[in-house]
Amino acid sequence: MTKFPNNFLWGGATAANQLEGGWQENNRGPSIADALPGGKKRMQVINQPNFDWTIDEKKYNYPNHFGIDHYHRYKEDITLFAEMGFKVYRFSVAWSRIFPQGDETQPNEAGLKFYDNLIDECLKNNIEPLITLSHYEMPLNLAKKYGGWKNKQLINFFEHFVRIVVTRFGSKVRYFLTFNEINSAAHFPALSQGLVPENGATNKKNIFQAWHNQFVASSKAVQIAHNFNSQIKVGCMILYATSYAYNSNPINQLSNLHNNQNFNFFCADVQIRGEYPSYSHRYLKENGVSENDLDRTTDELALLKEYPVDFISFSYYMSSVIDATAATNETVAGNLLGGVKNPFLKASDWGWQIDPTGLQISLNELYDRYHKPLFIVENGLGAKDKVETNGKIYDDYRINYLKYHIQAISAAIEDGVEVMGYTPWGCIDLVSASTGEMSKRYGFIYVDLDDNGHGTAKRLRKKSFAWYKKVIETNGADLDNTINY
Ligand code: BG6
Repeated sequence: MTKFPNNFLWGGATAANQLEGGWQENNRGPSIADALPGGKKRMQVINQPNFDWTIDEKKYNYPNHFGIDHYHRYKEDITLFAEMGFKVYRFSVAWSRIFPQGDETQPNEAGLKFYDNLIDECLKNNIEPLITLSHYEMPLNLAKKYGGWKNKQLINFFEHFVRIVVTRFGSKVRYFLTFNEINSAAHFPALSQGLVPENGATNKKNIFQAWHNQFVASSKAVQIAHNFNSQIKVGCMILYATSYAYNSNPINQLSNLHNNQNFNFFCADVQIRGEYPSYSHRYLKENGVSENDLDRTTDELALLKEYPVDFISFSYYMSSVIDATAATNETVAGNLLGGVKNPFLKASDWGWQIDPTGLQISLNELYDRYHKPLFIVENGLGAKDKVETNGKIYDDYRINYLKYHIQAISAAIEDGVEVMGYTPWGCIDLVSASTGEMSKRYGFIYVDLDDNGHGTAKRLRKKSFAWYKKVIETNGADLDNTINY
């Protein structure tokens, strides 16, 4: 039987750029996410050598501009979350709603007001807000004019933004996350660092410098939050993909060990332990970068040590396989990183390998390594849903996916791991980050919009809505609930 602590935080997660819309309303400035076209090729488009963040509405459709119109419908959406019994709601603050260009001194009051209202709506419904400070977006101007996070000036702009956010909302919000999936830049620096080939993404030195600047900015955020109120907890956020060696060949085992260090642990090691790990030299060298190439001051390194994060949050969708010996040639897609096919696992329609046991392993690996509380802030199944003629959506495949992952969390808790909460991704359907599609749906709530933005944007409860409501009501004890839907 599954068991969770009484104060376990059940809820859901979203990101501003994928659901708010209202991209030009009340003085909001454009963000890098607004320059991402819709469709499966969006990552290819932004990786072209001449892509310079130009928004060309004649050439492309930009689904993030409208999102799911949450900017105007947030009250209805929060009411639905409350109906499911959410105890926490993870959302992000759009930096360009508060600082339209990113480098202003004065914030945009209308932007702050929107988040005041959103937070108050959550609190009115007994939902604890959990804010991601930077979720795959920054003011477009900071990417175009300053070249993204490789530029140290961004530390100061971010610090100013965080100070305004924490001062305004810090008496109502107890949990903040700094950078969403900070480690994803290893494969995809565009979303989290504002780096595309045109402004330096192909030179690995820039990625490591951008990371360093983000580590410093993260420590400053911890400092600001703790100084404002010592009860506030700030977490890092990593994309965790449990990684297996393809077979017992020691070469694959070693390669897997290095992959774990490089991808799953490098950023977390710095943000949690407050210092660069011992394998940094090897990792940099493998990427043709040396310590001397990076601008890292003694004061900055001291700040990292003084202000590590308080807890670890991570996304978990799938596991990956390392095959350095080319023992197989079967490949699959994945969450910003594709790889080798695991013969023991099934994959989603988008090729992400489904592995609940991998979540139990992740939780153990992270807790053994860091001894800090863990928060699973993203997990879920991107799938195509069908609305039946009676208006119902029977998403048993999603219920199944979530059920086995929740069981895995419970098993990890039994193993002795400290888990704070669980916020499945895209609790309401929203625009996919990697493909810009609406048809890749994660939600408990269906939103009537298609990939071209056509539809009424009407919200419909899926079968999983009633199921998850019961899961929360029973504090995770009743995962087999057969509900009247
Ligand atoms: C995570 C991101 O990588 O995965 C989210 O933090 C994203 O922003 C989610 O939406 C699911 O990925 P996708 O590409 O299916 O939207």
